[in-house]
Parts: sequence; structure tokens; C-alpha cells
Amino acid sequence: MFGRSTGRHPLFARFYPRSAEVEDAHGGREHRRELLADVAGRVLEIGAGHGANFRHYPPAVRELIAIEPEPGLRRMAEEAAAGAPVPVVVEAGFAERLPLPDDSVDAVVASQVLCSVRDLPDALAEARRVLRPGGRLHFYEHVRSRDPGFARMQRALDLIWPLQGAGCHLSRDIVRAIGEACFTVERVRNFDFLMNGRTTPHSPRVIGVAAWPG
Ligand SMILES: C[S@@+](CC[C@H](N)C(=O)[O-])C[C@H]1O[C@@H](n2cnc3c(N)ncnc32)[C@H](O)[C@@H]1O
Repeated sequence: MFGRSTGRHPLFARFYPRSAEVEDAHGGREHRRELLADVAGRVLEIGAGHGANFRHYPPAVRELIAIEPEPGLRRMAEEAAAGAPVPVVVEAGFAERLPLPDDSVDAVVASQVLCSVRDLPDALAEARRVLRPGGRLHFYEHVRSRDPGFARMQRALDLIWPLQGAGCHLSRDIVRAIGEACFTVERVRNFDFLMNGRTTPHSPRVIGVAAWPG
């Protein structure tokens, strides 16, 4: 169950935009474009951070509602929204309790956030609730490795990792959780995101789309 949380992580809010910039310069930007290439209509992005995705939304997006619980990141997202190529409204909120009515969006975007939500099944149930039948969840996440030894290392690191990453977990099997939440996973690309040719604990990644049949 989703408990009480303030969503405040001021230290994370200070270092995350810089580390995202470094990732983006090493290929992350292309991943964001791949994630958003066929998103259209009225869209919800959960945990939008400082709004690094906003500039990559295609013109087919009529309206973007961006939810972000961390106040410092939300302020940066508001600035990014002002220069975005599509209309963006930034709001406070949590993925586990979305401030939107049922069946109200065509697509939900989750970009490196399902690792951090406090309750993954609740967050996915909320995504399902706000999606119209036939709507899609577009995801770009770092995930549990398919290599058992690497996955063991990620599980061990998860004893401390969430403390420095504002609740981020390395060893979540996010694609499996999406399937268990009654989405139909239509496509998923597994890859390792190497930084300067090196593997990091969050190298195993997925970019994919899952449909909510309704
Ligand atoms: C690693 S950052 C990713 C930010 C952005 N989506 C991106 O792609 O750069 C994770 C984000 O998830 C947000 N977050 C953490 N818990 C959340 C929750 N329960 N609901 C919504 N967002 C959450 C954090 O505040 C942070 O902005």
C-alpha cells in the first residue's frame, strides 16, 4: 500500500539534472526520442523530474500533463514546459494516487520512474485507471538484469541504493510487473546502456509499449 511520503529529495533534485545531462550526451537523448516517437493525443507523464523529456514530444501530442512530487524538480519542469514544443501542464502528485479522472488520457509515459515509486503495483493500477481502453503505457526504465549473477549484485546493492537515489531500486523486474498489472506488452527492447564503454549497475534497460485493453 502507498504510505505517507513528502516526495522531497532536495539533494537528489540538485544532482539528478546534471547526471541526466551526462547520460543524455552518451545516448540517453536517443532513448528518450525512441520512447516518445509514437506518443499522441492527451498524455500523462508520471515522475517527470526536471522535464528532460518535454523537448522530445512529437507534434501529435495535443496536451501533456506532467506529474512530479519533488518541489525543486517540479520548478525546473515548469521552466522546461515554457520552452516545450507541445502544451505542458506541470502538477504536483504521485504515480500511486493520480489527480486525474478515469479513462482520461490516451497515453501514459514512465521514464526512469517505476524504479523509484514506492508501490509499483499501485502505480501501474493508477496508470490503468486513467488510461482510456486501448490506451498505451510507454516506458523507458532501468531493470533487473537477465544475467543471474548481475541480478544478484543488483539485489545486494538495493540494500543501500535507494538511500542515495531517492528511492531508486536496481533490481525491479518492471516488464514482468507491467504484464502482471494486466497490460499487454506489445514491444520491448532490452539493451545495456554503457557509459564510456563501461557497464554500470543500472545499465540493463528496456524501452517498450504496453496496451491497456480495457
Ligand atoms: C530518475 S528521476 C526520472 C525523471 C524523469 N522522468 C526523466 O526521465 O529524467 C525519477 C523521478 O521520479 C520521481 N518520483 C519518485 N517517486 C515517485 C512517485 N511515487 N510518483 C511519481 N514520481 C515519483 C522523482 O521525484 C524523480 O523526479
